[in-house]
Amino acid sequence: MSESSATGQQSKPPAKPRKFQAIKGVRDLLPAETPLWNHVEETAHAVFGTFGFSEIRLPIFEPALLFERTVGTDTDIAQKELYFWVDSPKANNAIRSIRGVAKVSKDVASNSNSDVHQRLLDEAQKGSFDTLAETNRVALRPEATASVCRAYIEHNMQQLPQPVKLYYMGPMFRRERPQKGRYRQFYQIGAEVLGGNDSPGIDAEVIDMVMTFFDKLQLQGLELDINSIGCRECRPKYVEVLREALVKVKDKLGPDSQRRIETNPLRVLDSKLSSEQEIIATLPRMAAHLCADCAEHFAEVKRQLELRGVMYRENWRLVRGLDYYMRTTFEITAQGLGSQNAVCGGGRYDGLVELLGGPPTKGIGFAIGEDRLIISLQESGKAPATPGRDIYIAWMGDKAFATAIRAVKDLRAAGYRVELPATEQKFGKALGQADKLGARYALILGEDEVTSGEWTLKTLADGSQNKYTESELLEYLRETKAPAQQQL
Ligand code: HAM
Repeated sequence: MSESSATGQQSKPPAKPRKFQAIKGVRDLLPAETPLWNHVEETAHAVFGTFGFSEIRLPIFEPALLFERTVGTDTDIAQKELYFWVDSPKANNAIRSIRGVAKVSKDVASNSNSDVHQRLLDEAQKGSFDTLAETNRVALRPEATASVCRAYIEHNMQQLPQPVKLYYMGPMFRRERPQKGRYRQFYQIGAEVLGGNDSPGIDAEVIDMVMTFFDKLQLQGLELDINSIGCRECRPKYVEVLREALVKVKDKLGPDSQRRIETNPLRVLDSKLSSEQEIIATLPRMAAHLCADCAEHFAEVKRQLELRGVMYRENWRLVRGLDYYMRTTFEITAQGLGSQNAVCGGGRYDGLVELLGGPPTKGIGFAIGEDRLIISLQESGKAPATPGRDIYIAWMGDKAFATAIRAVKDLRAAGYRVELPATEQKFGKALGQADKLGARYALILGEDEVTSGEWTLKTLADGSQNKYTESELLEYLRETKAPAQQQL
């Protein structure tokens, strides 16, 4: 008897369980796609390895200040895109308690002299809530250059032979407006060169490496834009010239650019607003204001790119969205991506390690948007098919199952992709299943096969079948070059 009828009360119908969905801007990468992701990542390991880079694996979350300090306070990342939280039970308890007080009162907002207001203030002051919150604020990484610099300092990498050449891959997080090619959890493959000198040859080699990687993947419609945004000497002077020019045309600019005249005039050059394009074209350009050293450095980067056969386009408006850059900046676009067509961005950032308390250190690097790289490959038909199985084992009877288990172990040990159904099926059904899974062969094991020791191998593409002993079977598969290599 149910509880409700025993007590005579009607129980509520059970609540329908909530169906969860991935958070906006966050995606699952399904098996149909992951072979391409793996291929891209394996190619990165191989190509970057040939350039003498080693992999570094970094934490997914770090102190929020690490990112805020490095990417710059007037950047979208620092202002609105960082996912951060207070990683302290004490601070969280204080927040909870403040909330509790706020809940029981309706007059907190309307009457700032209220008793509750005072209690809220007391709570906030107790246990120096602000300090707790600030020192314990952590963030999901929006990029990894800052982490690489932090790791370089933390592990005294300046004592290793310089420069230190590192690469990384993994998820990054930015609270952006999601659209095709723009996600809140996205993946980057990046590389950084830290230490040593700032020879233009390093800039050219880093760019050459990413272009070699893209070529290897047969990424289509690539365009490489490069620029020099000067150094600590010449950039501030140019920024002033630019600011003066912007002030004169202020009325014709949108609110974002108007604000940036004060906070970061260079970012105005980044504007995509169509109404601002004509005005921007008339603004003074960095190239005319580079100091002699920067001009020489940029000329040499270009000469070295030419020496390496790397095609580029000079783009005076390429300033990039992060504050840490100086001198060389670059961006690479690819086809099939719509408005979010930058697959790679990078540049030089001498001084960033110092900003984080390390020794004066040269730095340059890039990050590739892996999601965008994958979309571009898919759109241009360069994506591989999902790998099927090499062999599906169709078995019937207990004795055949024991043989099938032995066979599957040997075949898997030899590297074949083998499916062994856990329950017995009629051969017709098993062959249908093998077909659906895209298997190349079905290995048929019934009473007859087990007794005679002659196994039947059916080629599913043409329906032909032959008998082999166990050792002949492996020999035959080897000769026919199975397992099917995934040719990408
Ligand atoms: P970034 O330009 O912010 O640079 O990002 C590099 C690449 O990551 C972009 O070109 C784009 O392909 C991809 N990306 C950025 N945001 C998203 C998003 N929301 N969804 C999908 N893809 C995205 C940096 O992150 C620097 N740390 C690069 C660097 C390394 N500079 C020097 N070293």
